[in-house]
Amino acid sequence: MEGAALLFERIFDKPPEICCFAPGRVNLIGEHTDYNGGHVFPCAIDKGIYCAARKRSDRKFLFYSVNLPDEGIIEYAADNIPLKGCWADYPVSVIKALSAFGHDIRGGAEMLFCGDLPEGAGLSSSAALEVVTAVALREMFSLPLTGQETAVIGQFAENRFIGVSCGIMDQFASAMGRENNAILLDSNTLEYEYAPVGKAGIVIINGGVKHSLAGSEYNQRRRECEHAAGMLGVTSLCSLTPDEFEKSKHLINDDICLRRAHHAVYENQRAIDAVSALNRNDLAEFGRLMNLSHISLRDHYEVSCEQLDHLAQAAQNYPGVYGARMTGGGFGGCTVNLVSPEAVNDFIDFIQSDYENSFGIKPEIYRVKAVSGARRLLP
Ligand code: GLA
Repeated sequence: MEGAALLFERIFDKPPEICCFAPGRVNLIGEHTDYNGGHVFPCAIDKGIYCAARKRSDRKFLFYSVNLPDEGIIEYAADNIPLKGCWADYPVSVIKALSAFGHDIRGGAEMLFCGDLPEGAGLSSSAALEVVTAVALREMFSLPLTGQETAVIGQFAENRFIGVSCGIMDQFASAMGRENNAILLDSNTLEYEYAPVGKAGIVIINGGVKHSLAGSEYNQRRRECEHAAGMLGVTSLCSLTPDEFEKSKHLINDDICLRRAHHAVYENQRAIDAVSALNRNDLAEFGRLMNLSHISLRDHYEVSCEQLDHLAQAAQNYPGVYGARMTGGGFGGCTVNLVSPEAVNDFIDFIQSDYENSFGIKPEIYRVKAVSGARRLLP
């Protein structure tokens, strides 16, 4: 984080006024439920995006990414912000979204970003970028923004301006995380509760296969779910319990929509049940539900891939692993593994060589902690 301040000074010739941080997230269970009015259970992780920033008195915004130095400083005029089709569209979309929500920013800013979240790996680098932008602007311009509103604005920015119809989970986890806890969020009401993740190790394995949410698959899943909900006569799939769904599923006359709906309804129930299990300290049951989640994402929702299936299966068979599943939007990216603390090191060694032997790619492996949500770090 001092690194971000020093780099800022090098790029913009002045020290920054503030430094902020927004974490990425890993979702433990409740996948593809957040745009179906269901529950998710993510935690913010100790990897994320830093932003060093300084106000300007004119109406210009200048952005620089340490991770993409070749793109240089990207400039936008605040009063006329067309998107440019590059990474800086994310922070700019947040400025547009803030103004749509009535938060006028009087002035401009220089903002430098750097981070240690792999991009396109399903750990929410986009949401962290959106949330850190909103928090930095909140701090510099004294905007009256709550954590929840920050999440809603980040999601709005991505839906409206970037064109990805994502749910609220990623931005919510990044803005509202709590140390050592995951968040059970009801995406329908935005009611939430924290649950301690306990002593089990959270291990994320990045298979090195990229996903692209903006790629039409994600939006396509969402449309299929909406179509299924329409045939069932409900506004969102997760308003149905599994029993209610079983009684009415004959109304869905399309096999793909039926499978998508099956996943959403049962995954929502699994998320609720998993958190009850965790609160009883029943990690074996939590892990069993994670494993079922993976199977459903693979077979009903069809968002997994060969590499993720292999990683999940190999982990599920390994002693000391409670549960393993793909995490995030899918089509590549990461698995999340809940592992007993004594088994973590051996498991990491095993999965590393197993994956490399099978696919010729060295996976990146992160042992992460659950951390608190986006915040100002300096001064
Ligand atoms: C992406 C989206 C989230 C959520 C997950 C799938 O991460 O941004 O809103 O839908 O996929 O659970």
